[in-house]
Amino acid sequence: MEYSFPHYLLSKQSVDDRALNRNVFDLLKANLPEAPLKIIEVGAGIGTMLTRLVRWGALTKADYILVDEMPQNIQMAREWIPLWAAESGLGVEQGEANQLRVFDQTRDVRIHLEQADVFDFIQKNKEPADLLIAHAFLDLLPMPESMPSLLGLTRRLAWLTVNFDGLTALEPTIDPALDEQIERLYHATMDSRTTGGDSRAGRHLFSHLQKAGADVLAAGASDWVVHSVSGKYVEDEKYFLHFILHFFEESLTGHAELDAAAFAQWLKKRRAQIERGELVYLAHQMDFLARVSGSPIA
Ligand SMILES: C[S@@+](CC[C@H](N)C(=O)[O-])C[C@H]1O[C@@H](n2cnc3c(N)ncnc32)[C@H](O)[C@@H]1O
Repeated sequence: MEYSFPHYLLSKQSVDDRALNRNVFDLLKANLPEAPLKIIEVGAGIGTMLTRLVRWGALTKADYILVDEMPQNIQMAREWIPLWAAESGLGVEQGEANQLRVFDQTRDVRIHLEQADVFDFIQKNKEPADLLIAHAFLDLLPMPESMPSLLGLTRRLAWLTVNFDGLTALEPTIDPALDEQIERLYHATMDSRTTGGDSRAGRHLFSHLQKAGADVLAAGASDWVVHSVSGKYVEDEKYFLHFILHFFEESLTGHAELDAAAFAQWLKKRRAQIERGELVYLAHQMDFLARVSGSPIA
């Protein structure tokens, strides 16, 4: 199997569609200021949150800055967003290298693609947005020190979604002791990355936001729950599951505490479970809507 990160982000869409916390999302929609909106999304990947917000009727007129450090993601965004727009009956204009516009009679979204490290982008960004979005991203950053500068990107709201929060489950069990050890070591790798990260990022965001001077307006679970229906995974979720096992393999191969042969067998059995449509995967995550202190509330 070929592992492509942009393909993984595409395959993740339907999982995220189900997972996103609707109470938090409804409050976001209720609090959005009048269009046109300025939105900054950091760690935005290939732009699937932008297309989701259009699909879900939350974006009409907006300037949307999409920031990601991976050149492959930005290249994919440049190619994929126009394809998605055309398939969705939206007009598309490609401006200069980093500009796109998707529109119809009621909607007009001007997109700026920015390939940059988030902290470099923060340094050079001149005007804060109405809304900051970080989706499946904050659990990768050093906290709490990153929070004040991230919040500097918005003058109003921050919608911070799918923040991992300490629980992974794979069913059916293969070997209770080995399953537990692999889960524990996998979480530990998230806590020891040199670039930052936290395997309990979700729950810790309450205090990180508060200390950075933001009010939490809403919070709730956004768990990934992936299972087959009549033996088949929906959409591209079979690929998504294989990619999750690839993350396990990349993170834990050669780990000093793990028996290499037992881990290789475990991966083989988990992959066979996917092929038979047996594997169930759960990950506990949390969504937040926060308001920058002193900004108006709808
Ligand atoms: C788990 S992916 C989520 C992507 C996207 N939000 C989504 O859910 O489809 C995390 C993303 O953060 C980006 N990223 C990681 N560290 C970054 C940094 N320091 N600055 C900007 N982007 C970063 C990666 O390239 C990757 O696309």
